[in-house]
Amino acid sequence: MPPRRPTIGVFDSGFGGLTVLRELAALVPDADYIYFGDTARLPYGSKSVETVARYATGAAHYLERHGAGMLVIACNTATALALDRITEAASVPVIGVVEPGAERAAAASQNRKVVVIGTEATVASHAYLRALQARGMDAKEKACPLLVPLVEEGWVEHPVTEVVAQIYLNEAFAGGFEHADVLVLGCTHYPLLKPLLHRIAPAHVTIVDSAESTAQVVSEQLRRSPLPILTDEERRHTPRFKFFATDSVEKFRRLGARFLGHPVEDVQHVDLKE
Ligand code: DGL
Repeated sequence: MPPRRPTIGVFDSGFGGLTVLRELAALVPDADYIYFGDTARLPYGSKSVETVARYATGAAHYLERHGAGMLVIACNTATALALDRITEAASVPVIGVVEPGAERAAAASQNRKVVVIGTEATVASHAYLRALQARGMDAKEKACPLLVPLVEEGWVEHPVTEVVAQIYLNEAFAGGFEHADVLVLGCTHYPLLKPLLHRIAPAHVTIVDSAESTAQVVSEQLRRSPLPILTDEERRHTPRFKFFATDSVEKFRRLGARFLGHPVEDVQHVDLKE
């Protein structure tokens, strides 16, 4: 039997998780990727734990049924609210974005003071706070709900986004956190704002991108449990991608390309029954 390339299932509420897929494909090119974007039901960032857990476990089952041997929960909100529920429901290894982000932040901080930005739901769950406190960090979480729609509008280098982000960061780097030296991007959309955030964050701040940290963790895990041996032909293969979206395929292609950094081709519409 020819050796099989591993299939990694990546889940997100919509397009944002493509920032995680982009990092994964760069670090783990010897894999196939199936991506599920729950675009019909986004945003998750303003929904309850119950709803997010139900949606996310449904998507996880779908990815498993389509051959995923590992699941990466790219959505910060789904990870923060429902990682335990997804892991319980899945029969393959599951990796979320919060622990890798917190681990990298703890390693990067000199003064053990960290600011995390994310959606309302991620912040309300305090998942990052707990993960950082467990590593001896003092953390402040700040919800930045306007940033997701601004990024989806394509306003990543726009004066309005700059003003909005500056207001959020001023509020975050305050109240004892003026000297926090790490800013964690706890939302799939924020990596697209990295150049802007670099410009407006206090000069001493290191930006930690959970997408990058998660890809690193997945790559290390796959190194520990090695991938099947690949043929030369397979090794030459660039990663193959297949996308599932619960809303318009055309919109997924259009917006997805911005997040992934290259065209999004093989997209199939999925109607998940409740
Ligand atoms: N994917 C979500 C996250 O990373 C952002 C978009 C949403 O709210 O659904 O938290």
